[in-house]
Amino acid sequence: MRRWRILLATLAAAVTAATMGALAAPGAAQADANVVGGTRAAQGEFPFMVRLSMGCGGALYSPNLVLTAAHCVSGTGTNTSITATLGVVDLNSTSKITRKSNYVYRAPGYNGNGKDWALIRLSSPVTTLATLPIATTTAYDSGTFTIAGWGAATEGGGQQRYLLKATVPFVSDATCNSSSMYNGEIIASNEICAGYASGGTDTCQGDSGGPMFRRDASNAWVQVGIVSWGDGCARPNRPGVYTQVSYFASAIASAAASLGG
Ligand code: ARG
Repeated sequence: MRRWRILLATLAAAVTAATMGALAAPGAAQADANVVGGTRAAQGEFPFMVRLSMGCGGALYSPNLVLTAAHCVSGTGTNTSITATLGVVDLNSTSKITRKSNYVYRAPGYNGNGKDWALIRLSSPVTTLATLPIATTTAYDSGTFTIAGWGAATEGGGQQRYLLKATVPFVSDATCNSSSMYNGEIIASNEICAGYASGGTDTCQGDSGGPMFRRDASNAWVQVGIVSWGDGCARPNRPGVYTQVSYFASAIASAAASLGG
């Protein structure tokens, strides 16, 4: 059940990446501007947001590393095929920063079930943008989270030209795994759910790999999740499912160190 959903999501991401030329027109996105159920982010509001050319999101982890989802990449090794776009909410902006990848590190043991994280190394560092620190304890794995991305604004909809944002509440593993929600499909140890029981606000296809984040005790942004999967988008009783970053924090940090970032 879970697997085909992820497969579908990956296919959808591939298709949307192929059709990135047909971005939603500036005016069109406004009427029901969403991640799903969201609004436009201001230029500079989330400086760490990254758009990846395969049709995923990411977050700038260090000047030369982007944290994304494992299901957005094909494996570990040299990879010069990905273009990262940074520093803009408008993907068509002439002030955008772009970098090619030179290496991808996918979570060891990733098999489509959990462990949905990967690091992409950029060909040269981006030193003008703030990075997004990851949560290293479970202290921030609750509360209200911010989500953002250039993915679909409605289930089955097109990719967006402008970065959209929304906030969603934490959903406990017990609730998320209950029979009215994902009925045991959530890997409680390393996935975290967020969304309204009534639906309406969510990440969607093309947001994958992007961060879910909140403010820490010092009012700084901290990344708690990576957009991973969901049953459709913004459906009632189907919260978004995110990689629980705190669980993988030390694995991510050692991988980053090994990549020189
Ligand atoms: N797997 C999707 C992607 O590749 C993201 C799905 C998120 N879905 C959700 N309902 N929160 O873009």
